[in-house]
Amino acid sequence: MTQETATIRNNSTGEEAEFSLLKGTVGTPVVDVSNLNKQLGLFTFDPGFMSTASCKSAITYIDGEQGILLYRGYPIDQLAEKCSFLEVAYLLMNGELGNQQEQAEFEHEIGQHAMLHEAMHGFIDGFHYDAHPMAMMVGIVGSLSAFYHSELNMNDPEHRRISAMRMLAKMPVIATACHRHSIGYPFVYPRADLSYCENFLNMMFSLPSQKYIDKDNYIDPIAVNALNLLFILHADHEQNASTSTVRLASSTGANPYACIAAGIGALWGPAHGGANEAVLSMLEEIGSVDRIPEFIAKAKDKNDPFRLMGFGHRVYKNFDPRATIIRKACYEVLESTSAQDPLFDLAIALEKFALEDEYFVEKKLYPNVDFYSGIIYKALNIPVDMFTVMFTIARTAGWVSHWLEMMAEPGQRIGRPRQVYTGKNLRNV
Ligand code: CMC
Repeated sequence: MTQETATIRNNSTGEEAEFSLLKGTVGTPVVDVSNLNKQLGLFTFDPGFMSTASCKSAITYIDGEQGILLYRGYPIDQLAEKCSFLEVAYLLMNGELGNQQEQAEFEHEIGQHAMLHEAMHGFIDGFHYDAHPMAMMVGIVGSLSAFYHSELNMNDPEHRRISAMRMLAKMPVIATACHRHSIGYPFVYPRADLSYCENFLNMMFSLPSQKYIDKDNYIDPIAVNALNLLFILHADHEQNASTSTVRLASSTGANPYACIAAGIGALWGPAHGGANEAVLSMLEEIGSVDRIPEFIAKAKDKNDPFRLMGFGHRVYKNFDPRATIIRKACYEVLESTSAQDPLFDLAIALEKFALEDEYFVEKKLYPNVDFYSGIIYKALNIPVDMFTVMFTIARTAGWVSHWLEMMAEPGQRIGRPRQVYTGKNLRNV
């Protein structure tokens, strides 16, 4: 079969050259411009990566027009309905769903890696009580590199696998320790007899509040199921900003925990994972249905930096399939926890108003996953400043899967974009 190509012509010089078209399993063809500079003496300019693929990957596929999201080929709604978060994490990391024994071994190993070195508590104690938990997460996860560095052989696949398992296992332990530090409660250790999400709830809420856990150690299945669902929906999203950050940092050969810490920093921003916290703050600021038009007008005003948080997406231009699933779950969780939340009613009213507004229709701005995730977290008593931390726990499954994928790829190169220089030309002092 002949290789399909695209021709690029420099109209100022008349020079032209052919470039290969790369085709994935599905999706838009990609022009391979890696030789563009060699062949035509040109670079490409694409701020925000609007039209640029940064790597090849077999993990997640998104069709933004159709609202399709697949993890390793499986549709997100099927995974959300039939799997636990750790089954999805196994799938993302290994390419296939594990059989019963493989899954059991995986979960046992996660349990084994969950404990933190006792000295880590000293790091956590060093933070002021009102430090934002995402700031603590960046610092604490980064500091794991101080505990696991010299013995790490990044050329050994088994060392890489253990690093990924450690990361996934320790993330909820670090997250809950950060929260408990901020409220002055003692840390709770992970337990081998609890599942991933049960452990999270136990470490987060056990003594003195005993929320979700009764005297017989019964952990509310509604909360466990809701967490599983949210973690699955947030587990991966192909080359988003934080995953691309992890990949870029990793391309230098840096310590994996430092690379994940870089990803956490990128996730924190309100345009990305910080949106779930920002949505709640925005709903509280709007306060009542009669103020919706005022805020919609602000969002449309080019001179006002305000944006409708939880709306819009770089890739989804029709609907976010995760938002459809989570919207339904919101009703179920609020009903089953008997949590009356006027903010949910406000969110529904805001969604309706925006979806009928010409500006939002024309720009194809729809509610994204984070328009609703905060409402569920709030119903589960998770504090607002922990919302993005919840996203961090879930996205760790995606980050480590991408890290494992890229580290196993032969011929990896350092990520190093070019620029259009707009500064002064050579001059003398
Ligand atoms: N409210 C008002 N206007 C908006 C919004 C919004 N939420 N989102 C985009 N627009 C407008 C924007 O002003 C621009 O208008 P114009 O073409 O006139 O300049 C147009 O729509 C396209 O926006 P963009 O910023 O070029 O789009 P992008 O693909 O670069 O950004 C986004 C995507 C998600 C960062 C953006 O929609 C946004 O800031 N949304 C609010 C934050 C948010 O909810 N983020 C969570 C994303 S989902 C979770 C995750 O995966 O991280």
